[in-house]
Amino acid sequence: MKYDFDKRVDRTNKASYKWDQSEKLFGRADILPLWVADMDFESPQEVVEAIKQRAAQGIYGYTIRSQAYYDAITGWLSRRHGWSIQQEWISSSPGVVPALSIMVQAFTEPGDGIILQSPVYYPFYDVIKMNGRKVVDNPLILEDGYYTIDFDLLTEQLSAGAKMLFLCSPHNPGGRVWKQEELKRVGDLCVAHDVLVVVDEIHHDLVLSGHKHTPFASLSEAFADRAITCIAPSKTFNLAGLQAANVIISNEQLRQKYNALLKTLSIHMESFFGLTAIESSYTYGDEWLDQLIPYLEGNLNTLLTYMQEHLPQIKVIKPEGTYLVWIDCTNISSDHQVLKSLMFDKAGVAFSEGSVFGKQGRGYLRINIACPRSLLVEALGRFKLAIDTTAKS
Ligand SMILES: Cc1ncc(COP(=O)(O)O)c(C=O)c1O
Repeated sequence: MKYDFDKRVDRTNKASYKWDQSEKLFGRADILPLWVADMDFESPQEVVEAIKQRAAQGIYGYTIRSQAYYDAITGWLSRRHGWSIQQEWISSSPGVVPALSIMVQAFTEPGDGIILQSPVYYPFYDVIKMNGRKVVDNPLILEDGYYTIDFDLLTEQLSAGAKMLFLCSPHNPGGRVWKQEELKRVGDLCVAHDVLVVVDEIHHDLVLSGHKHTPFASLSEAFADRAITCIAPSKTFNLAGLQAANVIISNEQLRQKYNALLKTLSIHMESFFGLTAIESSYTYGDEWLDQLIPYLEGNLNTLLTYMQEHLPQIKVIKPEGTYLVWIDCTNISSDHQVLKSLMFDKAGVAFSEGSVFGKQGRGYLRINIACPRSLLVEALGRFKLAIDTTAKS
């Protein structure tokens, strides 16, 4: 089956977080929203059908995880990532961010330091701070448009007593798909300092040609023993509204503690549709995903060419994975208010404003390219026109 990612689907008036809040958030309704990370593509047909069939049951009572559900997850991880896991290691969560927050509560104490690598997905800060823990920032090093980990600082921070590391792999918004050598260095350091690694692998399926995602916990038993891996089909198959994620923990003690807290919070049951989404997407989604990746690569190339030809003052951090493109607009302005006004008031586009990802994000924007190409081109055109008009006035 050939999927049509060029098809523009009207998402307005559907209670869409991205499409139905423009007036409220940006002051005008006609914004092209290329910000929050969901895609403007319909999910795979098999997933839509499975959810329709589930809806047709007409009774939406409490549900259980079937063998097919577990097989779908273990099959996907083995097929797509070469990661062989045992069914018992699988737990769940209403989302990856809720899982991060639960990890913080389960495995750290108020006041403990938790390391993140900025610029990074902004809820990482929230779950640390709102749980009364301290953010220990290990900023990524940006050189020639390429992010790497500051291992010297990481070593210092681990030695100074940080209790947990949030590893975003692949990295949002830096776009890096960490190489095995990099992951091994991180893992060795965390083993040496006996620190837990919460690995957010939500973007693991969205890896562009020439790169390979390695599940951190698959690298060694010692890493797996202190790794808590969060995955979800939500980014891969555009299912974020169904709030279904999985947590893989091979260390039995850690898993029991996590599961006990899930139960304490009474969020250990799976959602009726979330379960179906996980099972059907991991069972039938390969072909769709294999077509999605080249389409995203086409969009990335379109953006790169457009920037080079029309907006050379903007530097693009070329992603290796995710559908999020981090652009350096410091040659236009490092003032986030100026960039916001340029996007929202003048251009009528909404990319994500960079300072929310950390202070190195000032002067940066993040563009979500998971949309029909014509929409991306329209948004870039609006952005360029606003920049040109502002420069002249
Ligand atoms: C790195 C990362 N983690 C987690 C999430 C969100 O996860 P969830 O919606 O399952 O809480 C996102 C969404 O953009 C993300 O980019």
